[in-house]
Amino acid sequence: MTQEHNNSADPLHAKKEAWSGRFSEPVAEFVLRYTQSVSFDKRMAMADIRGSLAHAEMLATCGVISQQDLDDIRRGMEQISNEIKTGKFLWQLELEDVHLNIEARLTQLIGDAGKRLHTGRSRNDQVATDLRLYLRDEVDQIILKLHHLQEVLVNQARREYNTIMPGFTHMQVAQPVTFGHHMLAYVEMFDRDRERMIDLRRRINRLPLGSAALAGTTYPIDRELTAKLLNFDGVAQNSLDAVSDRDFGIEFTAAASLIMIHISRLSEELVYWMCQRFSFIKLPDRFTTGSSIMPQKKNPDVPETARGKCARVVGDLMAMATLMKGLPLAYNKDLQEDKEPVFDAIDTVKDTLRAFIEMMDGVEPNRAEMRAAAAAGYPTATDLADYLARRGVPFRTAHDIVGRVVRLAGDRNCDISDLSLSELKSFSDVIEADVYQVLTLEGSVAARDHVGGTAPCQVLKQVQRWDSIFAERNKK
Ligand code: ARG
Repeated sequence: MTQEHNNSADPLHAKKEAWSGRFSEPVAEFVLRYTQSVSFDKRMAMADIRGSLAHAEMLATCGVISQQDLDDIRRGMEQISNEIKTGKFLWQLELEDVHLNIEARLTQLIGDAGKRLHTGRSRNDQVATDLRLYLRDEVDQIILKLHHLQEVLVNQARREYNTIMPGFTHMQVAQPVTFGHHMLAYVEMFDRDRERMIDLRRRINRLPLGSAALAGTTYPIDRELTAKLLNFDGVAQNSLDAVSDRDFGIEFTAAASLIMIHISRLSEELVYWMCQRFSFIKLPDRFTTGSSIMPQKKNPDVPETARGKCARVVGDLMAMATLMKGLPLAYNKDLQEDKEPVFDAIDTVKDTLRAFIEMMDGVEPNRAEMRAAAAAGYPTATDLADYLARRGVPFRTAHDIVGRVVRLAGDRNCDISDLSLSELKSFSDVIEADVYQVLTLEGSVAARDHVGGTAPCQVLKQVQRWDSIFAERNKK
């Protein structure tokens, strides 16, 4: 987990007198270090302040605190925001977490009004609210990045709508496809990833605040008002559930894992496409690295790193799911462990998408190599079988005939289209001179002319479909 470390949060630098009266020294230091969360949850500081300001405004509106208290809290929080943004805020490990650090500073700055902020609230509903606020904004950024990656891939498809390459099954040349069609396959995957993020965002966007420690609060609060101030779609309807479930974190890391799984598939393809035996593509130099010993090397480090980083995000999902399993209602301190996996998944997915948006734009296909690879391995054998079937040969029989044609071509070390008409006719007399049209790569891809097929005209139709989807999205 990459977290910046602030010296002031290090117990060696902390003011010992703040806790030495309560703990026997060596144990206290270890326990503090062990149970603290401020070293990582200070990332949610702005969400914490936002949540507190909305809570205070609600309390003032409901007459629980005075207008003067609210004004003081606003003034104090303004200063604290500035201190945090300029790196002047003194984070203290002995104050355990982001919530207590900010509250202590507020009280230091404004006195009693700071002590009134926590009325009708617990850190249990506070932390659940902060994480939702924080994650909601990050999810929005991820949704936008997925959109940008889709745009880049659609533009590749536009440029390469009729670039022929081999399509593989079992990593064996199967049938020719177009590179544009291949790129659009990933556009579909990233679209489902985007939908998942949009969908889970709705479930993140419920307000826990007001649940207090676990049972609710005795103050006359207005949770709907707090929800409105914080742009939540509504309030969580059960306090025990609201403070204790982190299913939204599990959903998020699951959806993040799927993004990374899709990225890792693309990465794997980029890696082998770049290998000399394929030479299907060139990656921009700034996304590759050299070797410290072999001067000729250009390694696909970015795709390989991304393929590897998929593992850590899947690990984040495992951490979240395992954390939740068997936890009794309501809040348990275990839940503090929810943050690092969520933060790590956010960072990894955002960095990875950023790299792929730039890198995929710069992928240069080597059309001649792709075409040559598609030509080897009898990729139009299925087309010949379809040709025979169209002329009345039952498909299974046609399949068998073509298998024998392929064997002959293999013995001769040539392509099916290199066999003469009389040789082909010896396998079946329904074969005529027009057979050579279906044996070409261009004929093969063009024939798959239906929704979802690889025909260049279908690829262009898909490109247009995406263009209008993007135009619609950009309007919003
Ligand atoms: N740091 C804690 C967390 O992240 C905040 C809530 C603590 N509540 C408590 N009762 N100890 O979960």
